[in-house]
Amino acid sequence: MKKGRLIVFEGIDGAGKSTQVRMLKRKLRARGRDVAAFREPSRSRFGRTLRAKAKEAGSLTPAEELDLFIKDRRENVARNIRPALRDGRVVLLDRYYFSTMAYQGAKGLDPEWIRTVNERFAPKPDLVFILDVGPPEGLARISRRGTRDALFERESYLRKVRRLFRTFQGPRFVHLDGKRDKRDLGREILDRTLAVLGE
Ligand code: TYD
Repeated sequence: MKKGRLIVFEGIDGAGKSTQVRMLKRKLRARGRDVAAFREPSRSRFGRTLRAKAKEAGSLTPAEELDLFIKDRRENVARNIRPALRDGRVVLLDRYYFSTMAYQGAKGLDPEWIRTVNERFAPKPDLVFILDVGPPEGLARISRRGTRDALFERESYLRKVRRLFRTFQGPRFVHLDGKRDKRDLGREILDRTLAVLGE
C-alpha cells in the first residue's frame, strides 16, 4: 500500500532537473519532510551499462536500449521507490518512464506502448514537472563537447524528444519554462508540490 508521494522531474538534457531536485529536497527537509531522491538511469549494473553505452552512439539498437532502461527501472522501483513510498516518504525522481517514452519514442518506438509496459510495474507519479528548454540552450548548459556534426545530430534528436515531452498533458503534468530564473522556478515547484502534499 502506497503512503508516500512520488514527484517526478523530466526534460531534455540540460533542462535543469538536477538543480531543481536538489533545491526542492533541501526546502522540503527544512520543513521537516522525510524526503528520498533517486535518479534514472540508476546506479545499478543496468544503469552503469546504459551510461557507458550512451557514450558510443549507435552501439545499441532502440529495442536493446529500451530493454535496459526497463530492467534498470524495475530494479529501482523494487529496491528504492516502492520501499520509500511504503514508508510514507516524499520521493523525488530525476527522470522516470516519461523519459523512456520521449527518448526511445524519438527513436521510433511507440510512446503509448512504452507507457503501458512501464505502468505494469512502475507506480504512477502524483506530479510530473516537465522543464522545457530548447536543445541549443540545454546542450550549452551541460557544455557537451563534440564535433559539429555530432552536435547537430544531437540537437535534431533532442528536438524530437522535446516535442514528445510537450504532448504529455493531464492534471498531473506541469510544464514549466526552464529558461526562467532558477529561484523563481524553484518557488513555483515548491508551491505546487506542497499543494499535492496537502500543505
Ligand atoms: P541523464 O539524467 O541526463 O544522466 P547524466 O546527467 O548523468 O548524463 O540521463 C542520461 C541519458 O539517458 C539522457 O540523455 C537521457 C537518457 N534516457 C533515455 O534515453 N531513456 C530513459 O528512459 C532514461 C531514464 C534516460
